[in-house]
Amino acid sequence: MKRVLIVTGGGDCPGLNAVIRAVVKRASQEKDWEVLGSIQGFNGILWEPTELKVLDNEAVAGIHFQGGTIIETTNKGGPFAWPVKNNDGTWSSVDRSDEMIRKIKYMGIDAVINIGGDGSQQISQALYEKGLNVIGVPKTIDNDLTSTDSTFGFQTAVEIATDAVDKLVTTAASHNRVFVVEVMGRYAGWIALNAAVAGGAEVCLIPEFPYDIEIVKSALEKRFKRGRGFAVMVVSEGAKPKGGEMVYEKSDEVGYENLRLGGIGRKLIKELKSLGFEPDMRETVLGHLQRGGVPIAYDRVLSAQFGVKAFEMALKGDFGKMVAYRHPYFVSVPLKEATSHPNLVTLDNALVKTAKGLGISLGIEMPEKLK
Ligand code: F6P
Repeated sequence: MKRVLIVTGGGDCPGLNAVIRAVVKRASQEKDWEVLGSIQGFNGILWEPTELKVLDNEAVAGIHFQGGTIIETTNKGGPFAWPVKNNDGTWSSVDRSDEMIRKIKYMGIDAVINIGGDGSQQISQALYEKGLNVIGVPKTIDNDLTSTDSTFGFQTAVEIATDAVDKLVTTAASHNRVFVVEVMGRYAGWIALNAAVAGGAEVCLIPEFPYDIEIVKSALEKRFKRGRGFAVMVVSEGAKPKGGEMVYEKSDEVGYENLRLGGIGRKLIKELKSLGFEPDMRETVLGHLQRGGVPIAYDRVLSAQFGVKAFEMALKGDFGKMVAYRHPYFVSVPLKEATSHPNLVTLDNALVKTAKGLGISLGIEMPEKLK
């Protein structure tokens, strides 16, 4: 009997269950393969006793349209930084990766499919370097992983953000207001830029292009004649002013390394008011709504393709690689390459040109000519 272990790590994302199901369905066509899931990322392996779930056709029936992950996830700790409580009540972390790899091998697991974002794939690479047979599957609503045209879950998040813009346009118009819609994406502006184009926003601010508040103000003013008008701004949670910082909090959750971004919408409203911009303004923070619920059909299809390909890589022994979508193919790329740098919006991206063509202000002086 051969075994493949599925792990879902980092923030959840619509389409995770569809990937799990696809791996199981594909594996069930081969003789003598068993699929296991580790509960809550690698914790299921590291806990004593271990917590694993047998993933057979029955366990995955009908899960392709369920949000979340049936094997749970975590974005705290992990095999390289396992949180340990000290006698004085403080916390430190220990590296349990060697022990975990020994355990995985002892359990007769031949391959690990690690479904996760940039942080998780860095863990995949580090585990691979230590001798574990790992395959990565790119997951993130932020779409900030390089080497793949797209990650599953991203389009669902864009759909949710666009739906919010559509709804806020009508209330903004009725009240002669500016609405600021704050969307997720961490250091990448993909969700904001796509939702702004799809929803017809007037302004879109993203982390890659630090904004000039005067440019934002004048873009909004054009929408108001004698005090009447309305506008919608789509703003990434990681957007920041020129020469300024992102708005964030440090988390007090044990083992949580990320900064908690959020609050730029409110900050923008204050900045605009202080510059004398008078129309009413409100902000809506979409937050985790963008990660919940059913994946749209596009993401289910992408997830199915990632899942089938990941298992086929396990069959071939194609380890230390991540599945990548390079239209129209699904290929395997070295994890090292996939984690070398993030996928961020650049001025030469076609969507930036489109946004400019639509008259969407990105809060910066736009170059006369874009590629
Ligand atoms: O990376 C996905 C993401 O949803 C980001 O867009 C966001 O900044 C972050 O995760 C939120 O993480 P958490 O679920 O830990 O609050």
